[in-house]
Amino acid sequence: MGKRTSRALSETILTGVSSAKNPIFRRFMPGHLRFRRQPYDNHPIFASPRLTDRVCLVTGAGSGIGRAIASIFAAEQGVAVAADVDEAAARETAAGIEESGGRAVAMAVDVSDEAQTQALAQRTNEEFGRIDVLVNNAGVSGVGDVEETTLELWEEVMRVNARGVFLMSRAVVPYMIAQRSGSIVNMASAIAETGLARRVSYAASKGAVLALTKSMQVDCASHGIRVNALLPGTIMTPFVERYLRDSYDDPEEGLRAVRARQLTGDLGQPEDVARAALFLASDESRFVLGTGLFVDGGLSGTRG
Ligand SMILES: NC(=O)c1ccc[n+]([C@@H]2O[C@H](COP(=O)([O-])OP(=O)(O)OC[C@H]3O[C@@H](n4cnc5c(N)ncnc54)[C@H](O)[C@@H]3O)[C@@H](O)[C@H]2O)c1
Repeated sequence: MGKRTSRALSETILTGVSSAKNPIFRRFMPGHLRFRRQPYDNHPIFASPRLTDRVCLVTGAGSGIGRAIASIFAAEQGVAVAADVDEAAARETAAGIEESGGRAVAMAVDVSDEAQTQALAQRTNEEFGRIDVLVNNAGVSGVGDVEETTLELWEEVMRVNARGVFLMSRAVVPYMIAQRSGSIVNMASAIAETGLARRVSYAASKGAVLALTKSMQVDCASHGIRVNALLPGTIMTPFVERYLRDSYDDPEEGLRAVRARQLTGDLGQPEDVARAALFLASDESRFVLGTGLFVDGGLSGTRG
């Protein structure tokens, strides 16, 4: 990819597709459903691509944060393997990247299915000869306090969010060990540290992801593999749209409440998390191991 194409792609990040249908989000989230210019592209520190030819496997890449991560990785000249249980959505992500001059393929995976995670890692390695970056981003929400949460909900949330990260990592780590390098970025949540009302299953699953990250790092360090976690606060994606619908009688009032608890006074955007993922995926973070990086607009700061 030439410099000009790379720059054009650097100026594009795809954001929250299904939110466009919701009038509340149309008001608060202009600019979705299209590629948006990124001001950071003009900063000299970003002059050279940071993931040239790196093979980057991103789960949950069909929507929200995962789509933004796959897009920014491709903009940094990586090869994005956009994986999602929703294969059509993954294809949409890959097509958007390719239209902008980047390299991407779509692959289907249910991260909670052992055979599918093994097959995805194997296929990626067969097609590209290596796996440099794994972003364990796929996740589902779960709303309810300890009394409200059914065993079915608990098990579903843990199955995707915790077991999914374990299975996907277990499938990819052997390839990273063989090449003696790799960066794994696990999507936890600020909730793992701060807590939040009526989120017991979700908080437990993200706490598990954070603990798994730290423990995996200890084992993987000697193989040249870094394992870190991201702890996003509230990021404007279809995921949050569903959360507001499930948690508040009036989602618009809910959105106001969520904004009010941010030190920034606003929610994050998928590309805010994507930039942090880019840092953890790239060599710029080579001395960052086993950490949990908050990307939460100050939410954790307000909790002390
Ligand atoms: N949006 C937020 O405020 C927020 C905050 C903290 C953490 N997170 C985490 O970030 C990640 C992405 O969230 P988002 O807001 O972009 O959500 P989203 O709902 O927009 O996207 C999640 C994607 O994961 C996919 N997915 C779900 N189950 C899957 C499975 N079993 N296998 C493969 N793919 C699956 C979905 O199809 C979807 O494309 C999640 O892990 C979420 O818990 C989000």
